[in-house]
Amino acid sequence: MNQNSREHWGSRIGFIMAAAGSAVGLGNIWRFPYVAGDNGGGAFMIIYLVCVFFIVSNIMVAELAVGRRSQLGAVGAYKSISKKWTFAGALGVLSGFLIMGFYPVVGGWALAHVFKSFTGLLNNPAMIGANFDIFIESPVQPLIWMTLFLFANVWIVAKGVKGGIETAGKFLMPLLFVLLLIIAGRSLTLSGAGEGIRFLFQPDWSEVNAGTVLAALGQAFFSLSLGMGCMITYGSYLDKKENLPNNAILVLLMDTGVAILAGLALFPAIFAFGMTPSGGPGLVFVVAPTIFAEMGFLGIILSTLFFGALMIAALTSSVSLLEVVVTYLIDEKALSRKKAVGLAATVMVVLCIFSSLSLGMMQNFSILGVGMFDFFDILTDKIFLAIGGLLLAIFTGWTLKKEDLRDELTNGGQVSFKLFDVWYLMTKFVVPVVIGLVAIAGIMSIEETGVMILGLLIIFVFALFSKKL
Ligand code: PFF
Repeated sequence: MNQNSREHWGSRIGFIMAAAGSAVGLGNIWRFPYVAGDNGGGAFMIIYLVCVFFIVSNIMVAELAVGRRSQLGAVGAYKSISKKWTFAGALGVLSGFLIMGFYPVVGGWALAHVFKSFTGLLNNPAMIGANFDIFIESPVQPLIWMTLFLFANVWIVAKGVKGGIETAGKFLMPLLFVLLLIIAGRSLTLSGAGEGIRFLFQPDWSEVNAGTVLAALGQAFFSLSLGMGCMITYGSYLDKKENLPNNAILVLLMDTGVAILAGLALFPAIFAFGMTPSGGPGLVFVVAPTIFAEMGFLGIILSTLFFGALMIAALTSSVSLLEVVVTYLIDEKALSRKKAVGLAATVMVVLCIFSSLSLGMMQNFSILGVGMFDFFDILTDKIFLAIGGLLLAIFTGWTLKKEDLRDELTNGGQVSFKLFDVWYLMTKFVVPVVIGLVAIAGIMSIEETGVMILGLLIIFVFALFSKKL
């Protein structure tokens, strides 16, 4: 593709909102609270924060630098430096497809809950859990909501980087933040809220093992949209004048802030209403409406706002997932944006149909012992994102030239990046070793052995055969 004709973000704030829009998503509001709840609360939170600030932050800076330097998406960025590395980018595009194989399903649930909250369908606290199960297991309803959600995605991505993705981020992100603030404010002022705060911040180290650390690392990658070339892709649309490390820190802070805010919106209320924090993937969809239903009319408004916020967060993230695949098809296969969006979205719809049905009608159909929905989740969250991050760190530290990186991260000496040497040493030595150790220990502890072996096999096959992509 002609580099001059490449689209670019229209403004700094536009890029930040789009990148934060990608990072802040279901990972923060749906996933973070239940993974933290399942992994003991406070201890998980501390390990998560260490992963984010000391390990994954380096990857964020590296992805943006690699993307802007090459002005290409995930596959092209690696390939333009060394064909041998094409597989690392290809693995990212595959992860994009796999995450989009279940993400819009949950996005559809959020959309459905906006409607259900508003129309009073979630008014009876005793029925919410059972109704949620009936809803996600039914063959048609979730598919309709998922299709509507995917349509919104396609519409935004088809409009392009500046007109679609950036505009959506600029409008939707501040709205999301305000909605969450209102809900956290209400939750924190409930009597008995203190217990939830303690759960979230007071560590209990007895629960921690290799699996917990991998869960925190996987969550950090997922939440910050890293390890699959998403920030490479967004970086490739960045102007040469932008200060990359500063932008990376801003996105990181916003993402972490929203995860904590989501925790503060949910846990105090969970404890105040005597519920259990380890509710699994249904936590947000069952606990939150139950809490709201106890609040009468105010609850209807808060519930509508809350699921509106969740849907907005999901939308700006799935837009970025779709964009990773679309950019690949535009850059490497010379498709027009419209064709690329159409092709990618069609494959995603099919994957989503299977993963939605795997929770109900197709419950008995499993791949290596797990349903489609869990299959996509385990492959990406527990294996591909961490390995993708590991590969990126090795690529950046050991294949790219140090002076080129300095040049990219300081805009040719125009801006200062005082921590450049620290970042470089971390990325070259510390990050690969830490991710490598956590990934090995964590992957070995995955209970779904068949999926684990298949995941590693896919990486191996990609390493051998993806040079042509
Ligand atoms: N960061 C998004 C979330 O927290 O929901 C999910 C995601 C988006 C993961 C984009 C990976 C990605 F490339």
